[in-house]
Amino acid sequence: MSETKVVLITGASSGIGEATAKLFAARGARILITGRNEAQLRAVAEKTGAKLVAADIADPETPSRLIREVERAYGRLDTLVNNAGIAPIAPLSESSRGHVDKIFSVNVSAVIELTRLALPLLLKSKGSVVNVASVVADQPFEGMGVYSASKAALLALTRSWAKELATSGVRVNAVSPGPIATPIFAAEKMGVTPQMLEAMGAGIKERVPMKRLGTSEEVAPVIEFLASSAASFVTGAEYCVGGGIEAA
Ligand SMILES: NC(=O)c1ccc[n+]([C@@H]2O[C@H](COP(=O)([O-])OP(=O)(O)OC[C@H]3O[C@@H](n4cnc5c(N)ncnc54)[C@H](OP(=O)(O)O)[C@@H]3O)[C@@H](O)[C@H]2O)c1
Repeated sequence: MSETKVVLITGASSGIGEATAKLFAARGARILITGRNEAQLRAVAEKTGAKLVAADIADPETPSRLIREVERAYGRLDTLVNNAGIAPIAPLSESSRGHVDKIFSVNVSAVIELTRLALPLLLKSKGSVVNVASVVADQPFEGMGVYSASKAALLALTRSWAKELATSGVRVNAVSPGPIATPIFAAEKMGVTPQMLEAMGAGIKERVPMKRLGTSEEVAPVIEFLASSAASFVTGAEYCVGGGIEAA
């Protein structure tokens, strides 16, 4: 039985969020999952018993809707996992204001708004926040400057909030995955051709000391650990799950 009683996981329709929902469910937690793809969310909800809200996290109404729903369904919140994220590729020459806004609205602004609105519930439960950042925050890949900057922002927020909330009982930590085999690497999600994607894939593996991609199931237990009372003296930390790629 998980000590983490009620968990809100963003971006749980696939990949790391889905694996995290399954792990928390296996530990007995009650879960609210969100993402845009309702069919995929339903499939995850069926396996985990989770409640779901299908919505775009970048929509200004979504964060308050999620908090209302978690309160209505469960009356409390113990853990917020800010996992939803996008990673379209663009070199500087193509990093238009639109590209920046698209990435930052999902990867940064929505996280700030959702965490701000979750705070009263987290203060009540002395709960915790786990932000899913990335090893590229410290070690950016070329062509991913804006994405890397969004994850660096997430790490800065994690460290700042951890200090701000340290005496309140609310802990805030980050998990930074290295390259993990998830749908985020789909050509259409990254905005590249399948050929470019194949070439990138080989190059990425070479950068990982373990010479392979990780799996979502290798990331989820680290998220679960940081949310658990086993990590009661851990706050403001970044845990890398990167096959040997570490924070700078
Ligand atoms: N895979 C990696 O190599 C890697 C490495 C480092 C960090 N990460 C981070 O890990 C997190 C999870 O990514 P993943 O690899 O598991 O990829 P994924 O399978 O594509 O998952 C991303 C999740 O975010 C959701 N999402 C994206 N945009 C959204 C929006 N506007 N509104 C609501 N939900 C949205 C997606 O749901 P819908 O499509 O249903 O909206 C999906 O559930 C991300 O923050 C990513 O940056 C991944």
